[in-house]
Amino acid sequence: MLSRIVTAAALAATASVAASGALAQDTIKIGVVQSLTGQLTAVGKQVMGGVRLYQQQHGSTVAGKKIELIVKDDTTVPDVSKRLAQELIVNDKVNILTTGITPATFAIAPLATQAKVPAVIMVSGTSSATERSPYMVRTSFTLGQQSGIIGEWAAKNGSKKVVIVQSDWAPGAEATSVFTDAFTKAGGQIAETLKVPLANPDFSPFLQRARDANPDTLFVFIPAGQAGLFVKQFIDRGLDKAGIKLIGPGDVTDDDDLPNMGDGIIGTVTAGHYSAYHPSAANKAYVEAFKKLNGMRPNFISLGGYDGMHVIYEALKKTNGNADGDALLAAMKGMKWESPRGPIAIDPDTRDIIQNVYVRKVEKRDGELYNVEFATFEAVKDPIKAAKK
Ligand code: PHB
Repeated sequence: MLSRIVTAAALAATASVAASGALAQDTIKIGVVQSLTGQLTAVGKQVMGGVRLYQQQHGSTVAGKKIELIVKDDTTVPDVSKRLAQELIVNDKVNILTTGITPATFAIAPLATQAKVPAVIMVSGTSSATERSPYMVRTSFTLGQQSGIIGEWAAKNGSKKVVIVQSDWAPGAEATSVFTDAFTKAGGQIAETLKVPLANPDFSPFLQRARDANPDTLFVFIPAGQAGLFVKQFIDRGLDKAGIKLIGPGDVTDDDDLPNMGDGIIGTVTAGHYSAYHPSAANKAYVEAFKKLNGMRPNFISLGGYDGMHVIYEALKKTNGNADGDALLAAMKGMKWESPRGPIAIDPDTRDIIQNVYVRKVEKRDGELYNVEFATFEAVKDPIKAAKK
């Protein structure tokens, strides 16, 4: 009796090993490295909200393969991002990576190239991120896409003298340079460019200096997660009452913080690729489902995660489940679809995102603050890459 039980148990064990062996071959592993804690936790929270929603809606099987997400927290430290990506490639043998903010994306790029593993950039807004590796594809945005458009809009709509307040790292430098170029070419003047540290910023002294320069407009780039504090200090320092207009790429009226900013922010005009108020059926469904799953309003960062998963799923469908890096990359290039933000595409030449940029004004709708879109620039490419051609 005992020996029969032992034999049965041994057989069962052998069967389960065989099954897990088969399973391993049929599993596509995606290594997700994001800022889940640390300085830019707000970014990680939104991007993961998009990733999780996509999986909830589309399941965990694609082209007959099981999709396994391996999520790692890089604590917003690029050296950690690099180590985690290395471990994911060597130990977990991931087929695909996804990356977050700019310094993390830069740190991971050489590893993606070496391992020939496609890496989907879900957050970084710095132009050169896609040039760091031929295996990188971006589903987020670039700061240049938005900053040139708001520069021209401001010059045409009464802004003459601008002070720039910029978070002091790569995407901020790009926002400043593209804005400055567009605004000065259209006849505007930059009085001063003030650079604020990324870590634990106190905007008050910079806002005082900005006010002292007596501009009619403040152009601001700060990353997601810092908009609430920035706008509070802008209003506390009385810049709105002094009649100084606030403009920028969409980060400063981030949908995550916007509901709690207070009515002082009403009327602020920004250029951005996403508003939770974007009037499409796809977006209404997205906002509702996102809130239900994640308990917060989706912001512009969340789309990089949601659409990043779309690129991965659709590429796997096209390759019939073949996870070879070059095959997946070929499938991703030129992909076009309707995102909750509007129509988007992956540029087949640059692997960068092409998307609409909307000019929006903060207004109250149904008792809540929203970025209400009033002008659309269609199929905008990253201007920094376009200028290099
Ligand atoms: C970036 O990592 O480039 C980044 C992050 C958050 C933003 C904008 C840019 O709001």
